[in-house]
Amino acid sequence: MNRKYRKTVIAGNWKMNLLPSQVKPFADALKSACGKTKHCDIVICAPAVIVPAAVKHFKDSRIAVGAQDVSEHDSGAYTGEVSAAQLRDGGAKYVIIGHSECREYHGETDRAVNSKVKLTLDHDLTPIVCVGETLWQHEAGITLDLVRAQVKSALYGITAERARKMILAYEPIWAIGTGRTATPDQAQYVCSQMRAVLREMYDARTARAIPILYGGSMNPGNAAELLAQPDVDGGLIGGASLDAGKFISIIQAANQ
Ligand code: PGA
Repeated sequence: MNRKYRKTVIAGNWKMNLLPSQVKPFADALKSACGKTKHCDIVICAPAVIVPAAVKHFKDSRIAVGAQDVSEHDSGAYTGEVSAAQLRDGGAKYVIIGHSECREYHGETDRAVNSKVKLTLDHDLTPIVCVGETLWQHEAGITLDLVRAQVKSALYGITAERARKMILAYEPIWAIGTGRTATPDQAQYVCSQMRAVLREMYDARTARAIPILYGGSMNPGNAAELLAQPDVDGGLIGGASLDAGKFISIIQAANQ
């Protein structure tokens, strides 16, 4: 974390879990525990159908609501899709884009990621753009090539001023939901290289301003060490965000 230049963000990714009726008890626990944690922004990224319940129950708190995906189209005949304008109008402030599960199961391409980033910025939503390598890419030693290319294509054609409104997340796919976490050194190294790409594409000020999160089996036991890295500005948390107690512990680690 480097709070001098950028905010710390702890974002939960509920994935396809919880029911609208289960949001209130979770929100009550989180709100009462987070009142005094001033040093990080807190986001819950819920399934689109749960966004309205989450917006309602996190109202008047410092916890913002996000979605987990968005259409690459502005509006029209796209059955089953949800637009950036609809999410924004429904009270969401953030949206995850390019999560490896969307890339894998929905065939989300780098080009679609780039379109979604532009649309969400147009609609005043903050994109949380995920990049990361598979296990074989990790073992083949091509992580940096892949991550650099993903960052470049996600931000293609986006001005520095707009880029400064984004959040990036490094999520090694081999660490997602596996209990196998990148070491703090590995996370720091890749996040610092992502920041180097931002410097090349834009300038030092822009590179310094964009929060880069780590995601992949972050939990109360490893959060403090990961968040202590200078280029790791927060976490994108899946499994541990479904348990209010664990999620609160991670938020507390970000407030040290
Ligand atoms: P995990 O998921 O924390 O369960 O590994 C992270 C993510 O996929 O965003």
